[in-house]
Amino acid sequence: MEKKVDHSCTLDKIISLCKRRGFVYQASEIYGGQAGAWDYGPLGVEFKRNIQNAWWHYMTQLHDDVVGLDSAIFQHHKTWEASGHVAHFSDPMIDCTECKARFRADQLIEDFVRKNPDKDPGKPVDTMTHEEMKAFIDANINCPTCGSTNRKYTAVREFNLMFKTHQGPIADDAHLIYLRPETCQGIFTDFKNIVQSNRMKIPFGVAQVGKSFRNEIIFKNFIFRTCEFEQMEMEYFCKPGTDDEIFQNWRKDRWNFYLKYGIAEKNLNWHHHDKLAHYAKDAYDIQYNFPIGFEEIEGIHNRTDFDLSQHTKVSGKDMSYMDQDDGNKNYTPYVIETSAGLNRNFLAFLCEAYEEENVGGEGSEDYRTVLHLHPQLAPVTVAVLPLMKKDGMAEKAQEIRTALKEEYVTDYDQSGNVGKRYRRQDEIGTPYCITVDYDTITKDSPNFDTVTVRFRDSMAQERVKISELSGFLHNAIRNYKPVQR
Ligand code: GAP
Repeated sequence: MEKKVDHSCTLDKIISLCKRRGFVYQASEIYGGQAGAWDYGPLGVEFKRNIQNAWWHYMTQLHDDVVGLDSAIFQHHKTWEASGHVAHFSDPMIDCTECKARFRADQLIEDFVRKNPDKDPGKPVDTMTHEEMKAFIDANINCPTCGSTNRKYTAVREFNLMFKTHQGPIADDAHLIYLRPETCQGIFTDFKNIVQSNRMKIPFGVAQVGKSFRNEIIFKNFIFRTCEFEQMEMEYFCKPGTDDEIFQNWRKDRWNFYLKYGIAEKNLNWHHHDKLAHYAKDAYDIQYNFPIGFEEIEGIHNRTDFDLSQHTKVSGKDMSYMDQDDGNKNYTPYVIETSAGLNRNFLAFLCEAYEEENVGGEGSEDYRTVLHLHPQLAPVTVAVLPLMKKDGMAEKAQEIRTALKEEYVTDYDQSGNVGKRYRRQDEIGTPYCITVDYDTITKDSPNFDTVTVRFRDSMAQERVKISELSGFLHNAIRNYKPVQR
């Protein structure tokens, strides 16, 4: 019997496409790879930057009350005492004593329950005590690494996720330094500077994008969970009492960001936290329907006045705000945080865009792999293709590419038949291909000085005057509608 080919999106297909087309490579691959670290290749770096730019545009340019910051990765070590990360930023881990494999106890249980829904622990995993987790694992879960059914595990204990080192040659407590596990603490420590230098009035937000580092116990699912990753965070400072409404508004706003850039609503989900982080009064995650199931891409937290109050206490510097619009009342602002993972956004937008589409027509099969990326996120916006290399078509195509370069990320491809070249561009998500043919260069043709613009999603083609190309593309991008699947 003929084996049916699976045309769904899987993580393995995404990983393979990422490597094949230069989106993402395993870091230090020639040495066997560095666990939990990935390099972003020529197309990956463009795509990641486009997501970051879209986020920045959405959060700062479209919100008059949000300004930007780029704070240092290294902050004074007391920052992390104040924030509670030294004491509380840990995950529960458990080891198999037979093969020494180490697991995150909560994830071990979650993975098991996902595969065995009838064996539910009876309460959310994030509310289980260490003893409850250990009892459940002992009773149910064979070691996923060595397969031992003896279930000889250590006790569950906490493992702090911060990387630490020392600055300079002296390795004592005074020189202790942490790699930041979240970008936002720099926003809190700079709160007074921002208010004073930019005359900011509450409510206002501060947006920041940058690297964060976590000594994760396990890495899995490609770039989903890594030790080094980028966060796109925004801290919105507001008057206590207004925080609940602002929290709900930001939830809506952040949801709309994903819709705007092409994620179908059915692939998004809200997860309300049962157990809150040490700083939060309320928290929701936006989850995306990855091929591995619904998982978090962004957290939205009501951090109350926790961080500013803690920094006041530990630094001895007053971090309160005098509200001139409210009778000079003095208070410590509350903070609503939106914290998105850039790398997880990258993976979510890729998975959402991926399609193996049958373009063979009625009764026949001819599959193309296409990424339906939003044109503002696609790594290449326009590819210029001469129908053939000869008779001046290549030169004309290069001329058009040069003219478009200033405004768009362009590609040029003259190798192989044009159908294959379209497919190559489809696979990396290029929304528009421009083809230069004989009509383009034949003076007495009615189509002289025109090209065809081919649309990735519909594969439709339209003849456009070369002189009008730039505006045509501008309108096409502006009016782009994500494909409904
Ligand atoms: N400042 C709040 C904060 O850091 P979080 O829920 O721990 O909250 C926010 O992280 C986002 O950062 C997550 O939704 C996720 O997208 C991303 N993130 C967290 N840990 C990550 C990891 N190990 N690898 C990749 N992304 C991660």
